[in-house]
Amino acid sequence: MVRKLLVTGGAGFIGSNFVHHVLSHTDDHVTVLDKLTYAGNLASLEGLPADRFRFVRGDIADADLVDGLFADVDAVVHYAAESHNDNSLNDPRPFLDTNIIGTYTLLEAARRHDRRLHHISTDEVYGDLELDDPARFTEHTPYNPSSPYSSTKAGSDLLVRAWVRSFGVRATISNCSNNYGPYQHVEKFIPRQITNVLQGIRPRLYGKGENVRDWIHADDHSSAVLTILDRGVVGETYLIGADGEKDNRTVVELILTLLGQEPDAYDHVTDRAGHDLRYAIDSTKLRRELGWTPQYQDFDAGLRATIDWYRDHESWWAPTKDGVEAFYASKGQ
Ligand code: NAD
Ligand code: DAU
Repeated sequence: MVRKLLVTGGAGFIGSNFVHHVLSHTDDHVTVLDKLTYAGNLASLEGLPADRFRFVRGDIADADLVDGLFADVDAVVHYAAESHNDNSLNDPRPFLDTNIIGTYTLLEAARRHDRRLHHISTDEVYGDLELDDPARFTEHTPYNPSSPYSSTKAGSDLLVRAWVRSFGVRATISNCSNNYGPYQHVEKFIPRQITNVLQGIRPRLYGKGENVRDWIHADDHSSAVLTILDRGVVGETYLIGADGEKDNRTVVELILTLLGQEPDAYDHVTDRAGHDLRYAIDSTKLRRELGWTPQYQDFDAGLRATIDWYRDHESWWAPTKDGVEAFYASKGQ
């Protein structure tokens, strides 16, 4: 069946990847609702088939706008969020407005119109793990978020669960680990360090650089979300991960090496307040119950392709680079 999908936050890093993925792997029609904050970029949505794609600029917390859009679609995939931890430490308010009130607004519309909704969330809702802990996060790990960002994402997940149980909203949730790939904003770790090296700036490692993130390519995140939308069980949560644990120092050294620099040509800077030590995902449920498998098993190859993309697309990221670096410099980072 051909569906009409509403994708919130579809001009951001992962949302735009999903829009390209859906339009190239299905006959579905997609409407993107995006506020175009500093993180949204229409250039990430170029080249899509005009007869199956439309863009609406607006806020997910605008109940009237959301209501009209829900009336006209079969299902909603909800990516829109304030997404950056460092920004949430600087000014938490937009995180409450979008991640909490925005998600609430979508849930009320889903309830009124009885629409299927998939909520995109993060592994950060589970807090962090010790470096030497053999455990990984599962769907049963208790919530324990650390930052204003992750606590608002945790709050949004709990709203979704409550609307499923109390009002019968047909929703699923996925919690994914750290994404990398093209079109990621230069405020984030990997694009910041790649574009630093491309501009002759030394990469910046928070604290000792021992923190571990569980990297997954954005294409694999998109295929997992489409799988859950197609075959996921309403009311269930699925963890998405690709066994990609790496500490930050290793990632920076690899970026430097791939760009022909000495691997130790980076600086240690002020650590992030409350910095989560380690994330690690056990995605057994998604793989066993829905048959999903990631395609990107080779992090070095995925990182090399990502570096090539940033080298070839300076016009996409250059307009935002100086502002981002000025923000970090003001915090000693
Ligand atoms: P992003 O910051 O790149 O994009 C967010 C998008 O949402 C932007 O296009 C922005 O304009 C839009 N937006 C923000 N507020 C809005 C509002 N009020 N109304 C409408 N649109 C609004 O973020 P991302 O990295 O692509 O993350 C997307 C989603 O995936 C988020 O929910 C995030 O929590 C989740 N997630 C991200 C990662 C990751 O590694 N980046 C991992 C797991 C989960
Ligand atoms: O785990 C999923 C989460 O991954 C998502 O929910 C978030 O939206 C996404 O931003 C990401 O959060 P992180 O805080 O892990 O990502 P970030 O890219 O900000 O940082 C990754 C790691 O790199 C983290 O340990 C902090 C460190 N870091 C970051 C920057 C920007 C540095 O050492 N130097 C830097 O300059």
